[in-house]
Amino acid sequence: KEIHYFREVDSTNEVAKKLARNGAPEGTVVIAESQRRGKGRRGKKWISPLGGAWLSIILRPNTLPINAPQLTFIAGVAAAQTIKNEYGLDAGIKWPNDVLIDDKKVCGVLTEISTEIDTIDYIVTGIGIDANIDVNLLPSELQDTTTSLKSELNQDISRMILVQKFLGNFEAMYDEFNKGNFHEILKKWRQLSKTIGRQVEIRKGTEFVRGEAIGVNSKGALILELDDGTLRKIISGECRHI
Ligand code: BTN
Repeated sequence: KEIHYFREVDSTNEVAKKLARNGAPEGTVVIAESQRRGKGRRGKKWISPLGGAWLSIILRPNTLPINAPQLTFIAGVAAAQTIKNEYGLDAGIKWPNDVLIDDKKVCGVLTEISTEIDTIDYIVTGIGIDANIDVNLLPSELQDTTTSLKSELNQDISRMILVQKFLGNFEAMYDEFNKGNFHEILKKWRQLSKTIGRQVEIRKGTEFVRGEAIGVNSKGALILELDDGTLRKIISGECRHI
């Protein structure tokens, strides 16, 4: 499989989408040392200095229509698993797919789907892991809510090994997904979840819902139990643990 390595790009997701439009095969990986315009979810920017692991994977799943939330789950599970198993850190997942250590974010996932009519469908899953990042060099508003592998372990880690292990875990789960075994991935997601069992607040635009997260369904939607005992199914939104 091809790996495209760059010193600096605007966004590895943008580079990967361009390659995908030009026919790059499934499994192509784009990786950069730093990003000038790293993209986060919901139009936010993603600060991507040297020392992080910033990568995007081109996928062409055999199930149509493409289910982006499911692929995003795979990336979150693969990242949490890697961080837990390789470094012994207490990594877990905040719905839908932020990887946290304790209550601080160490990794985010941004999945984008092809929107052009004149191309074969593709999906790009972008993963950002704060590997060897000095948290105190990040913008002050991020410092309380962000951590990095380096600050947890008090030493630099090998990003080569991190990325290798991550891709191995990701590929194994993606194969399961393509065989129709998404329930296996959900099982792992539930085991790694830091959201289930907690009081959460979900924000979508200007709307807020609060309740206890009691589970996720087979499509990856979060099930909330509100104070009055009713259940709400949340398909997307910003989740805060309270
Ligand atoms: C989030 O939690 O908001 C998602 C962050 C995703 C960041 C990664 S870094 C590699 C890839 N390229 C981007 O521009 N974004 C993703």
